[in-house]
Amino acid sequence: MRIETDVVHGGQHPDMHTGALSPPIYQTSTFAFRDADHGARLFKGDEEGYIYTRISNPTIDLLASKIAVLESAEAGLVSASGLAAVFNIIVSLVKSGERVVSDDTIYGGTYTLFKNVLPGLGIEVVFVDASDIDQVNAAIDGRTKLLFIETPANPTLKIIDIARCVEAMRSNGVPLCVDNTFATPYLQRPIEIGADIVVHSATKYFGGHGDIIGGVAVGNKDFIKKMWKIAKDIGASISPFNAWLILRGLKTLAVRMDRHCTNAQKVAEFLVDHDKIESVYYPGLKSHPGHDIARRQMRGFGGMIGFDVKGGKEAGKMVMNSVKLCTLAVSLGDVDTLIEHPGSMTHSGYTDDELMESGIKPGFVRISIGLEHADDIIDDLEQALKKI
Ligand SMILES: Cc1ncc(COP(=O)(O)O)c(C=O)c1O
Repeated sequence: MRIETDVVHGGQHPDMHTGALSPPIYQTSTFAFRDADHGARLFKGDEEGYIYTRISNPTIDLLASKIAVLESAEAGLVSASGLAAVFNIIVSLVKSGERVVSDDTIYGGTYTLFKNVLPGLGIEVVFVDASDIDQVNAAIDGRTKLLFIETPANPTLKIIDIARCVEAMRSNGVPLCVDNTFATPYLQRPIEIGADIVVHSATKYFGGHGDIIGGVAVGNKDFIKKMWKIAKDIGASISPFNAWLILRGLKTLAVRMDRHCTNAQKVAEFLVDHDKIESVYYPGLKSHPGHDIARRQMRGFGGMIGFDVKGGKEAGKMVMNSVKLCTLAVSLGDVDTLIEHPGSMTHSGYTDDELMESGIKPGFVRISIGLEHADDIIDDLEQALKKI
């Protein structure tokens, strides 16, 4: 089926017992065993079934299999947050004494996990600019167990050529993990290009309404099983209700993404022509350095835009403090337009030098274009830019 159909029906069917079209929320911590031997068999893995929601739960499993369908993956595992999903992936693949190679432009929380937490576990992380494949190849050594990238990257919208990374990793025998949060499988399916693992903050476009935190990883069955064995002991499991809200959000993913994309294109074109704007970062603009790669590997360019205002940080602050319709808040992928300053907010774990190296200028502003009328978003930005 086409993805517009899969977001509605994929992995789902009416409830076997009641016919309920909307899936039941199995809001339970534990599941009763038929007898003591049944419980023992479930724990031993001799029989399939539910034990305890941290280990598995039907509502959460339904979400995992639905996202696997959307990403063309064999299986998936849902976690309490996107960051928990990233952590579960890392500790499933990489041990003390081994190395992760990561692109240098990634979500700030992932960056501080890699920079501050993983070294404490004996895992080395080498940051490179993965849009330059020579840098990636130079960083891969015999101890490297993973290449991690985001494309489009948070917050600069840098585009990385997934096919080139796949080619390089196949010759090195290193798995490639792509954070596909900004694109969603509606716009980009890295596993179809050859990536091994895809991770998402489901908090964003999957939920779509800014009311939950969740994460998911998809990949082949063996990897997901291996990760599940570790993840259940780490314990960052999502609540069944949050999983259900994500299932509900996914039903409208296709129509929402279409609107996010058309709105963002209009806003980006407005900003690019504005005399108070120095630069606009949106892969849908022909001037974006990753435009051609994005056209090849994406179906649309997404709802995220970055821009630098002439006058740097103070001018950028004035815009953020002057918007009336847009909300000054972190997160993204919501129905509401959200505006923020990565340097002091989502990416404040980067030092000033690291921000510059990743192309995040002091005045860089990130905007997650929502589902309001594009002209109302533009009018709001116009009145805010007038305040400078
Ligand atoms: C690209 C990306 N990946 C991962 C995360 C982490 O997700 P969560 O906040 O759900 O833990 C975020 C959060 O903003 C993100 O933007």
